[in-house]
Amino acid sequence: MAERVSLFEVGPRDGLQNEAAAIATADKVRLVDLLSATGLTRIEVTSFVSPRWVPQMADAAEVLAGIARRPGVTYAALTPNLRGLEAALAAGADEVAVFASASEGFSRANINCSVADSLARFRPVCAAAAEAGVPVRGYVSCVTDCPYDGPVKPAAVADVAVALARMGCREISLGDTLGRATPERVERMLGAVLDSLPAERLAGHFHDTGGQALDNIEASVALGLRSFDAAVGGLGGCPYAPGAAGNVATEAVVARLAELGLETGVDAAALAEAAAFAKGLRTEP
Ligand code: HMG
Ligand code: MG
Repeated sequence: MAERVSLFEVGPRDGLQNEAAAIATADKVRLVDLLSATGLTRIEVTSFVSPRWVPQMADAAEVLAGIARRPGVTYAALTPNLRGLEAALAAGADEVAVFASASEGFSRANINCSVADSLARFRPVCAAAAEAGVPVRGYVSCVTDCPYDGPVKPAAVADVAVALARMGCREISLGDTLGRATPERVERMLGAVLDSLPAERLAGHFHDTGGQALDNIEASVALGLRSFDAAVGGLGGCPYAPGAAGNVATEAVVARLAELGLETGVDAAALAEAAAFAKGLRTEP
């Protein structure tokens, strides 16, 4: 049997958060429902963040309330602080995520605090989630480049990843926020993180500005990673990472992994239907 890779679908969250025009809650719900029918087992639905910072995610609770939950599928949400966690738990999120950065510039732009302050803020979030029996994912942004500070040292990524793992994050998602990483730089970065954490605890999160996201995934697979984030239709970008393009498209990741002899359990036809719908939600080409 082919070896399995786990895909974490971030389209409804990372994909839609950057869209300037309001997207109807019903359309977000429809996108999640289409994704639930593809065989994907982990879907990041939304973010419980400040609506002043990210207006597109202001209907987080409504989206979670509206989706048809499919057994075996985990519905996740971003939670930057205790307030976000409480709201996510009340809305029935199955998994939550805290999000840190390996660089100071992005941390301040994205969550308005230093890296150290963000980690201090996430500790009680992880503790409260553990008490509620909800797993926490930890993101590290800017693992190779920061839009504000430039190239990022692999050791800085490892430090933040270890801090998140120690506070209880089960999986650490390593984010190429700008999407300009290359396989060589990904290998160097992963080399540093893998000195401290096993590959089973790590996921790759590649935006695709430079067109090398699939090669970066392949380099990560070679180093033992078996979990990757992707956004259906290649949606997305981060409002606080100017110039960054969307996430690598889920359908392209499924195809590349199949070429490598790795199985995702995703139905290509159902995913194509979700991708067509997702692309129709974009306000900009
Ligand atoms: P702040 O201004 O420092 O904090 O923001 P604050 O406590 O002063 O709150 C500001 C306002 O937000 C207040 O309301 C709070 O009540 C409200 P106001 O008085 O202005 O009306 N507030 C909240 N509202 C709803 N839910 C909450 C919440 N918390 C405070 N949980 C804060 C700090 C973290 C809140 C803000 O900076 C924020 O929301 N940032 C989120 C930014 C974001 O969502 N970025 C995109 C996701 S990260 C990403 O895309 C990268 C990733 O994909 C990986 C990669 O690619 O690298 C994950
Ligand atoms: Mg992202």
